[in-house]
Amino acid sequence: MASFLCYLMSTRLLFLIPLLHAIATSCFASRQPVLCHDDESSALLQFKQSFHWNLNSCFDPSDYPPKISSWKVEGVDTDCCSWDGVECNEETGHVIGLDLSFSCLYGSMLSNSSLFSLVHLRRLNLAYNDFNSSQIPSGFSRLSGLTYLNLSASSFSGQIPLNISVLSKLTSLDLSFNSELHLRSLQGLVFNLTSLKDLGLRYVQISSPVSEILGNLSCLRTIYLTGCGLHGEFPPGIFKLPNLQDLRVVYNPDLMGYLPEFYSSSLLKILSLAGTSFSGKLPDSIGNLNSLNELWIGDCNFSGHIPSSLGNLTQLIYLNLSGNSFVGQIPSSLSNLISLKYLDLSSRLVTSSNQSSLPWLGNLGKLTFLSFQGISLTMEIPLSLANLTQLRYLYMDGGKLRGPIPSWLANLTQLTVLALSFNFLEGPIPVAIFELKKLTLLNLYSNNLSGIVTLDMVLKPKYLASLLLSMNNISFLTSTNTNTSQNKFEVLGLASCNLRHFPDFLRDQDQLQWLDLSYNNIHGQIPKWVWNTSKETLLIVNFSHNFITGFDQHMDNFPWPQLQILDLRSNMLQALPQIPPPSTLVYLVADNMLRGEISPLICNISSLYSLDLSNNDFRGILPDCLSNFSRSLSILNFRGNNFHGIIPQLCEKGSRMKMIDLSQNQFQGVLPRSLSNCKMLKILNVGSNRLNDVFPSWLGTLPKLRVLILRENGFYGVVGSPTTIFASPELHILDLSYNKFTVTIINKGKETVYPKIKEVFKAIDLSSNKFNGKVSEFVGNLNGLQLLNLSNNNLTDHIPLSLGDLTTLESLDLSQNKLSGRIPWQLTQLTFLESFNVSHNQLTGLIPHGNQFDTFENGSFDGNLGLCGNPLSKKCENHEQAPLSSSGIKEVQDSWFHIEFDWKIILLGYVCGLIIGVVVGNFVTKKMQCWFVRT
Ligand SMILES: *[C@@H]1O[C@H](CO)[C@@H](O)[C@H](O)[C@H]1NC(C)=O
Ligand SMILES: *[C@@H]1O[C@H](CO)[C@@H](O)[C@H](O)[C@H]1NC(C)=O
Ligand SMILES: *[C@@H]1O[C@H](CO)[C@@H](O)[C@H](O)[C@H]1NC(C)=O
Ligand SMILES: *[C@@H]1O[C@H](CO)[C@@H](O)[C@H](O)[C@H]1NC(C)=O
Ligand SMILES: *[C@@H]1O[C@H](CO)[C@@H](O)[C@H](O)[C@H]1NC(C)=O
Ligand SMILES: *[C@@H]1O[C@H](CO)[C@@H](O)[C@H](O)[C@H]1NC(C)=O
Repeated sequence: MASFLCYLMSTRLLFLIPLLHAIATSCFASRQPVLCHDDESSALLQFKQSFHWNLNSCFDPSDYPPKISSWKVEGVDTDCCSWDGVECNEETGHVIGLDLSFSCLYGSMLSNSSLFSLVHLRRLNLAYNDFNSSQIPSGFSRLSGLTYLNLSASSFSGQIPLNISVLSKLTSLDLSFNSELHLRSLQGLVFNLTSLKDLGLRYVQISSPVSEILGNLSCLRTIYLTGCGLHGEFPPGIFKLPNLQDLRVVYNPDLMGYLPEFYSSSLLKILSLAGTSFSGKLPDSIGNLNSLNELWIGDCNFSGHIPSSLGNLTQLIYLNLSGNSFVGQIPSSLSNLISLKYLDLSSRLVTSSNQSSLPWLGNLGKLTFLSFQGISLTMEIPLSLANLTQLRYLYMDGGKLRGPIPSWLANLTQLTVLALSFNFLEGPIPVAIFELKKLTLLNLYSNNLSGIVTLDMVLKPKYLASLLLSMNNISFLTSTNTNTSQNKFEVLGLASCNLRHFPDFLRDQDQLQWLDLSYNNIHGQIPKWVWNTSKETLLIVNFSHNFITGFDQHMDNFPWPQLQILDLRSNMLQALPQIPPPSTLVYLVADNMLRGEISPLICNISSLYSLDLSNNDFRGILPDCLSNFSRSLSILNFRGNNFHGIIPQLCEKGSRMKMIDLSQNQFQGVLPRSLSNCKMLKILNVGSNRLNDVFPSWLGTLPKLRVLILRENGFYGVVGSPTTIFASPELHILDLSYNKFTVTIINKGKETVYPKIKEVFKAIDLSSNKFNGKVSEFVGNLNGLQLLNLSNNNLTDHIPLSLGDLTTLESLDLSQNKLSGRIPWQLTQLTFLESFNVSHNQLTGLIPHGNQFDTFENGSFDGNLGLCGNPLSKKCENHEQAPLSSSGIKEVQDSWFHIEFDWKIILLGYVCGLIIGVVVGNFVTKKMQCWFVRT
């Protein structure tokens, strides 16, 4: 009923307004206009005087001079009703409207402001001024006739006074874009605002959950709650508001919710929930939202199938479903969405789907933006794209596309972005692609493309700023006499392009932000001119995997003052250039021939995230300053050098350190107890040093520790109760081998290096210590274990049957102990077992057979005088039957932690022709900054 009234009121008003206006003008045209009241006139002037305005305080220079500057009491315009921005009631002369938006006002709004004596005000707009972080005065509550109040983007701060809720006639309230503004209770604010149609609180910090009450305000037409830090559950009743047309709750990562059933009576035009934690399925009834123009639900947690009923939303212009976990096929019913201009189906997961070749795409002739990033398409680039002649942005990165790049892509003459990275495209790049005049970004990173690309080709599209040809089999040919100064590249990826020199045309480039020349055949020194290239703009430099020996120049300062990432790994450098600037986030010089001590100046890189000096010949002790080094440092890799001395304190309180690898050096002494501050630590590797310490059971308090490697040191003493550290929920790899831990001894195994750690890999290596006791004391609830090495200890008793429950086990080494009894047949159930060694024990009886056991050779069983049967030549006397079962061997998963620095992450994060803030943070946020999102 309320909604019906509300509807009636609004339509009737709409209908009546022109009529009333006509009557008013015809009746009163001949009468003297009513002049404004003196008290209101002086209140306005007082208000004017309480602020400054100048060009600097303007939101936009064109706003100057502001409306308010014309307000005067002398001269012609003494009637305030004629002042710019002031609206009076034509009959009474009272000021009923004040629009001072974009008025360059600067100064605090005080609670005794004369504004609040304008009690006849119905509409008040003060948006886009600068009220100098003042609070919203409670005096607004005196303007009880207000129907429209807009204080957006005006630098208000503090708590929103809840007495605004007495303004019960408000139909529109907008407090958006005051990021220091807080709202204690959304319910308290809106409880009495029963006429509210438009509510805007974008980027206001709201500490309460979204109130169910909103669902009772039946006049609501627009609700904007973007970036409010909302949490809790979004009340589904809000979707059912009968007049709701525009709902935007974008970027509230902690806001949960689900989509209800929708009815065809819904008036929703815009639904934007991107960047929230909404989850569940898209209901089929979403097809009932027949007025919907825009659906933005990217980067939520939706799952299930994409309902084919979406194809009923024929009014859709924008559709963004990206970054969810949908499975199955993309419904071909989307072919009905012929108004669509923007379609983003890119996926965070790689959806496995047997897509047809997307013939329906050809119907969407109005598309200007199309993204299928990360969707496993397993097809050639579909011919249906040829119909999309309006297309400006095409993203099909990481889509398992095969076959050639078709030359008909060049028919899409509006293309400005063509991104096909991380596919399996092959053959040459058609010359015609470079005829696309509007191209600004061409990203072909990591395909199987071949052939020759010449400098002249890539200079053809005059606005081409981002060119990524890296990691193909392309040869990039440059010529020395080409003038390239017309073309300004910002991103240039020429990794693995058969370059033998630094390409000469880089001399002319002064806008480069990202330069990747890695994996080429560049020999010798970096020439002097390279350091002068794009001096002011370069952010990311990758010269890794070449044969660079040094630098041509002595420099006083590091040449690129804005640098964020420097990768010089795998070259032949014997010395480093200057320490890079404090802006550096990632500094990688591993696998060179660097020697000497590391300079304490390295501690000046105050924002460093990742530091990799591994596999060089650095010597000496670590500088003390490392102890209070960058708060941001997360990855520190000094592995494989010749450092000695004690390990300095590496983590202050609040440290973000995730990985510390100091292995294969000559460090002495004890593990610094400050490591217990590394609450984020996932990997600690101090293997192969000369440390002397007791078992660091105190590391068991690190909640995220996944990998602990203490092998080959002089650790000694009792491993307290091993089960406690084993029970640590995150611990996946524990390597205590080759120490002097008691409860036993030493055996020989091959050294296992963990250069990268498999995601689900769980390993325990306690080999070559002095462990006494039974195997069963070491294996409790170790579900998920993949490697168990207890070799070369002093273990006795039987092999426990329970090992047969470790169904994920891939490698089991119990060799060189004093185990006795039979090998339990239950071990044949370990169908992933690839490596098995029980040699040199005192085992007896029949070797079980079946499954993986049929693949193990003699060496697995040697040195057990009592064992018999295949593969040993010794036959058993009492033949025993072991059960058979068959099972395939699972492919070993090959997904790595993304803990080490990974260019792929950077590249996939790089989507829009901008280099974004950088790297290591939250890709959702970056995407939002970068792509067009309805906020
Ligand atoms: C408002 O209060 C401030 C102090 O809080 C005072 O300086 C100012 O004169 C007052 N203005 C009016 C119009 O009363
Ligand atoms: C709502 O309005 C009523 C009557 O005007 C008033 O008594 C009540 O306190 C108001 N509630 C809120 C939450 O402002
Ligand atoms: C979509 O439209 C078809 C044909 O008009 C209709 O049969 C179907 O029920 C609709 N589905 C939804 C969910 O609206
Ligand atoms: C291309 O678009 C036209 C009209 O826009 C349509 O008639 C035709 O079927 C489309 N072709 C393909 C292959 O989808
Ligand atoms: C591309 O354009 C050429 C020339 O206009 C035309 O002959 C060809 O058929 C087009 N290719 C496709 C696949 O539309
Ligand atoms: C190995 O274990 C046996 C039996 O528990 C014990 O007698 C012996 O001392 C142990 N050897 C060592 C070196 O710990």
